Order: sequence, then structure tokens, then C-alpha cells
Amino acid sequence: MAEESQKWVLMVTAQTPTNIAVIKYWGKRDENLILAINDSISVTLDPAHLCTTTTVAVSPAFNQDRMWLNGKEISLSGGRYQNCLREIRARANDVEDEKRGIKITKNDWENLHVHIASYNNFPTAAGLASSAAGFACLVYSLAKLMNVQEDNGKLSAIARQGSGSACRSLYGGFVKWVMGKEENGSDSVAIQLVDEKHWDELVIIIAVVSSRQKETSSTSGMLETVETSALIEHRAKEVVPKRIIQMEEAIQKRDFATFTHLTCADSNQFHAVCLDTSPPIFYMNDTSHRIISCVEKWNRSEGTPQVAYTFDAGPNAVLIARNRTSAALLLQRLLFHFPPNSETDLNSYVIGDKSILKDAGIPEIKDVEALPPPPEIKDKVPVQKCKGEISYFICTRPGRGPVLISDESQALLNPDTGLPK
Ligand code: DP6
Repeated sequence: MAEESQKWVLMVTAQTPTNIAVIKYWGKRDENLILAINDSISVTLDPAHLCTTTTVAVSPAFNQDRMWLNGKEISLSGGRYQNCLREIRARANDVEDEKRGIKITKNDWENLHVHIASYNNFPTAAGLASSAAGFACLVYSLAKLMNVQEDNGKLSAIARQGSGSACRSLYGGFVKWVMGKEENGSDSVAIQLVDEKHWDELVIIIAVVSSRQKETSSTSGMLETVETSALIEHRAKEVVPKRIIQMEEAIQKRDFATFTHLTCADSNQFHAVCLDTSPPIFYMNDTSHRIISCVEKWNRSEGTPQVAYTFDAGPNAVLIARNRTSAALLLQRLLFHFPPNSETDLNSYVIGDKSILKDAGIPEIKDVEALPPPPEIKDKVPVQKCKGEISYFICTRPGRGPVLISDESQALLNPDTGLPK
């Protein structure tokens, strides 16, 4: 293996997007392999605004596998990490760097240790599917480091064993996780339905809702639902299979009305099965409900839907607008109902693709104060303003799948020591 010098460090850096489900995964038929009780469909979010970057390194000088998340060392002893590491190592191949005189044979990988450093470009605590991007990036970068010759579909089945939703982050655009039938999970993989260019008018606005409440994790929440809810079986067997077919067609045809109808209904049904769990699980809060009302009212008044909403295991809203024009009109409504606190400036209140703010004619904070009530609420109930209920908005769009980062300066590990920079 390492001839003259034992000091070399070989590294790979990759970037992987996060995703948001429009037909939800909720419930497992195998807890260890992470096999779902229904298919699900997601949209991949632009990694420019939400992604995980991971550097993995190997060196004969390392004496154990180690990992750092956002600069802090974390334990790799959990079953999910161990399953991913084992599955990737089992598929490793020869690797040679002639220039540096490094040669690793297939069998060497069993005895070599890795260092992993991972960083999210969005707050982990915001509850924005950080585990999906995280496990997808871990598996993708290790596969590249170890010269694993499998396609992204096969890699998705490994990422799935880290976190179910992670398998869908191996592709850009719209992605389906096929639940599969096999007991060993070999056919429970992600497939790309369309790439990110297929429906590129869509604009996505995420409302990060302020919340003090500690939420039930997806893992334990879905286990409790499967054990106690009578509705979940009906959902998985009768409702979702039909919705999957309709959703695939809506995506192929860029049929926004059907897409919105299915996305909102599926989010609402997911939260209904949470409420049907004993004890009930509440992921959405009053702010989430207010956002739903605002969107429903506007869609209704327009006649044709302008925006779809979906909520995961937390109060944050993911709003998918049909195009830039409706995204700008949506942002006006959101800022009217949910203005920032007096100490927050607009620049940190709306992040990501800020050009939507310009489209909405709101370049400055004084423009927020001057926003008129949206026409659909005029002359009805007194206008309600909810300052401070939203932490910030992220403007983004559908995005691409994982990529390798060749620029060494972006690596998170030091190329000489293999320790975090
Ligand atoms: C509500 O993938 O986080 O976001 O497989 O136990 O790690 P584990 O759960 P996770 O669950 C995601 C649930 C969801 C819906 C979805 O992403 O499809």
C-alpha cells in the first residue's frame, strides 16, 4: 500500500443537495434497512442555497474512523453510519495516484480508516432535512474516494440506510423513491423522474418558522404512527399509490394545478396521520396554519392555483410558486402578514435568491411597511399581522444532484494532516 512514506492523505470533496417531498414518506416496513411502506416523490432544492459539503480523507496515519459535523466531532458508532460505511467499503476498488506514488488495493480498504468533515450551508437547527443531504453526501463522497463503480441508483440504496429521505438527494430535479418489494432492500432505490431543467419556472420559498418546541424526530414519529394509527394503512395502501401515478403525470406535463392539489393534499394527510397517532404528534403550529390559510385564500381568489405548500416534520412551510411572477406576489403577501421584527433587516430576513424581492418591488424595509393588504382579504376580517413569527425566508428553486468539488481550497480537511481546517 503506502510504500516509502506513510504520511500521505488522499481526499475527495463533494456537494449534495437537500430535497423536499411532495408525496411524503412516512412509515417503515424495516427499521434497520430503512424500507418504506409507500413510494414517495420529492423535488431537489438548489444546492446554491441549501446543501451539504463533505470532505472524506484516507491515510495510513489514521487510527480510527472519525467525523466532524459543522466543525464539531460527532460519534460514528450509530448503526446508520456503520451500515453506510460497511456497504461502501464492501464495494471499494483499487485506487492509484501515480504522481504521488499512492496505491491502494481493493483489500486495503478494510484496514484503512477515514476522516469525514461535513458542513451545511444552512442552519442544522432550522429543521430543513439536513440528514437527507448529509447522508447522501457521506455516501457519494466515500464512493468517489473508494472508486466504487456503482451508479447513483445503487448509491441511493446505501444512502437510504442512513436516512430514508437521503436516497432522494442522489439526483436533481424531481425524484421518486420506489419502496421496492425485496426483503433485502435491493430494489428500494431512488430514480430521477425529470431533471432540474424540465420545470425550471418553479420558484420555491421556504418560511423558517420561529419555534421553541422540541419536535418528535421523524424516525420515532413514523414508528409511533405505524404502531398506533388506523389511518396510516389506508394512506399507504389506497391513497398514495394513486397519488404517485397522478403526480408523475402532473410533473411530466408541468400541470401546476394538479401538482398543487396533490402536494397540498398529501402534506395535509401526512399531518392528519400524525394527529391520528397516539399520543398525537403536532408538527405544524399556529404560524404554519396561518400560512396555509393565506395561500388557500389567494389560490381560491385567483381561480387557478399560484402556489403549493408542503410541511415536513416541523412547522416550516415550503411554498412552491408556479413562476417568478407568482413568487413575487407570494412574497408580498408573506411580508405583509409576517413582517420582520424591528431589529431585523430585510437583507437577513429574505435570503437565497434575493432577486425575487426586487421583482416584488420591495427592495427596502420601508417598502414592507407600505405594503397594502392583498385584495383577497380586503373588506373582510380585520387584518392580522404576525411580527416575529417567521425567522427568515429562503428563496430558491429546483436544483441539480451531487457534484464533486475539484477546487482543493474548498476542502474541509487539511491536506497534510487530514484534520478539520
Ligand atoms: C416528513 O428520512 O428523516 O420528511 O428514514 O427515519 O431517517 P428516517 O426519516 P427521515 O423522514 C423524512 C420524513 C418526511 C417526509 C419525506 O421526506 O418524505
